[in-house]
Amino acid sequence: MTRRRQIYEGKAKILYEGPEPGTLIQYFKDDATAFNAQKRGTISGKGVLNNRISEHLFTALQTIGIPTHFIRRLNMREQLIRQVEIIPVEVVIRNVAAGSLSKRLGIEEGTQLPRTIIEYYYKDDALGDPMVADEHIACFGWASQEEMNDIADMAIRVNDFMCGLFAAIGIRLVDFKLEFGRVWENDFARVILADEISPDGCRLWDMKSNEKLDKDRFRQDLGGEAEAYQEVARRLGLMPEGEETAVLDLDSHRKKRGK
Ligand code: TMP
Repeated sequence: MTRRRQIYEGKAKILYEGPEPGTLIQYFKDDATAFNAQKRGTISGKGVLNNRISEHLFTALQTIGIPTHFIRRLNMREQLIRQVEIIPVEVVIRNVAAGSLSKRLGIEEGTQLPRTIIEYYYKDDALGDPMVADEHIACFGWASQEEMNDIADMAIRVNDFMCGLFAAIGIRLVDFKLEFGRVWENDFARVILADEISPDGCRLWDMKSNEKLDKDRFRQDLGGEAEAYQEVARRLGLMPEGEETAVLDLDSHRKKRGK
């Protein structure tokens, strides 16, 4: 048996050669990193949950006409995707102040923003993913102005749809990160949604308690990260029958830490 070829290993995923030209297999690891990989750990079962959560969200987004790289889930940790040329820009969409926005501008975490903000970060680990403007993206040729217009339009549509989807299950979509890639059809390039959408790259707060149900539990050493990811999957209806009773008890983590 020949071993399949690994194309790329990132912090939370591995990409393997796919079964047909133009396809890849995306494998979800349990590894978690934060602060540009200065903090490392594992969240047990995270890969399985993110695979399912991302499948669910990409499939739902496809039904409203957002083109994505997702083809189908293959097994617990893998999905078949279209190969894209990743645009080296992280697109962050914010509805509520948190994280680096709160820190940089001194806006209290949890403040509802009067309008949605889109920010761009240049994907470069060595530089620590610096924030950039549209101007830098055009100047250095990371994406054309037309591609950036398509990206901003898609980001807003994804945000509107996901705000509603999460609100329906009692979750506030505070902010999240998207990545896009280019696919070539004859001589024309088209931009589609790539990477993943999961609690690794979203801030998801319980609407009633404001409990964090995302990777901030790991970033801030709050504990209960696996349970938080499970809770998101459970509310999305993705946990198998029987495991539904494994409801979240994040309160116990808080109490243990005396907070
Ligand atoms: P930030 O507040 O740290 O800038 O993060 C904004 C959102 O983007 C948050 O939901 C987490 C996500 N994110 C990533 O997915 N990857 C990253 O490298 C960073 C910095 C943020």
